[in-house]
Amino acid sequence: MPEQVLAKLVKKEKIIDGIYKFSLKAESIVSSARPGNFIEIRISDQTDPFLRRPISIHNLDKENGILEIIFQIKGKGTEILSRKQEGDNIDIIGPLGYGTFKLADYKKIAIIGGGIGIFPLYEILKQANINNIQTGVYLSFRNKDLVMLEDKFGQLTKNLNISTDDGSYKNKGFAIDFLKQDMEKEQYECIYACGPTPMLRAVKNYAVENNINCQISLEEKMACGLGVCLGCAVKKAESPKETPEYFHVCKAGPVFNAEDVEF
Ligand SMILES: Cc1cc2nc3c(=O)[nH]c(=O)nc-3n(C[C@H](O)[C@H](O)[C@H](O)COP(=O)(O)OP(=O)(O)OC[C@H]3O[C@@H](n4cnc5c(N)ncnc54)[C@H](O)[C@@H]3O)c2cc1C
Ligand code: FES
Repeated sequence: MPEQVLAKLVKKEKIIDGIYKFSLKAESIVSSARPGNFIEIRISDQTDPFLRRPISIHNLDKENGILEIIFQIKGKGTEILSRKQEGDNIDIIGPLGYGTFKLADYKKIAIIGGGIGIFPLYEILKQANINNIQTGVYLSFRNKDLVMLEDKFGQLTKNLNISTDDGSYKNKGFAIDFLKQDMEKEQYECIYACGPTPMLRAVKNYAVENNINCQISLEEKMACGLGVCLGCAVKKAESPKETPEYFHVCKAGPVFNAEDVEF
């Protein structure tokens, strides 16, 4: 069950310009959280910004009751959040989202992420490692200056493929291209993806066409974050055109089987 807690910001780090990692002490949330869950953060004690902001859980340190988030400054909310200091208490609700990444009994999986979409993929990579599941990890960024967490992901996989759209660092091209190249040799049983919508569409189409299991995390715009406002609706695949049916990403997701959603 999600809980509202005041979590102490025990460590604040700058990852690259405009992107921060917060380590938050929140034992009760950490103990029940799963890979793919997110939290909703109250930004200010004032009424503006009124709505909480959704941020994925990046890493769970179960031993110390600490959860890590990494966020990019996008607008007012995340800008205010970035000014919090170590020692501050931050009002959060979590863990949120019933749809989480699941490992099943796979022996070999691929993890693919783009830009800030790589953050929620770390915890599932960690779990795969703990369960001796072989992994291939494909991360792409727009350019060299935006490459993040290479060492951290690299420590948990023998097959890390980093690419940039403009070729300014490592391989030139999109992560999906390198995943496709490896597929015949690696025979991944499931693909786990998070990133910009065009990337997720390409991953979904490839997985569906080739009959590969695929779990994707959707980062739809959210308002309430609790399944009551319809702000985060995504269409159910194959629901009738005349009477379309929807999932609430904040409740049913954020992780879905790719074939179940149209986006
Ligand atoms: C499940 C989920 C997980 C996310 N995880 C991360 C993460 O790990 N790291 C990260 O940097 N960002 C993440 N995001 C995106 C992040 O929530 C937005 O960048 C943030 O809400 C923008 O708020 P703002 O006030 O700075 O920007 P503004 O644009 O001023 O926000 C205005 C309103 O739009 C909503 N909004 C704007 N952009 C988004 C967006 N992309 N997704 C959802 N709501 C949005 C805000 O909640 C707010 O209600 C996630 C989004 C979702 C839905
Ligand atoms: S954000 Fe309100 S229903 Fe999902």
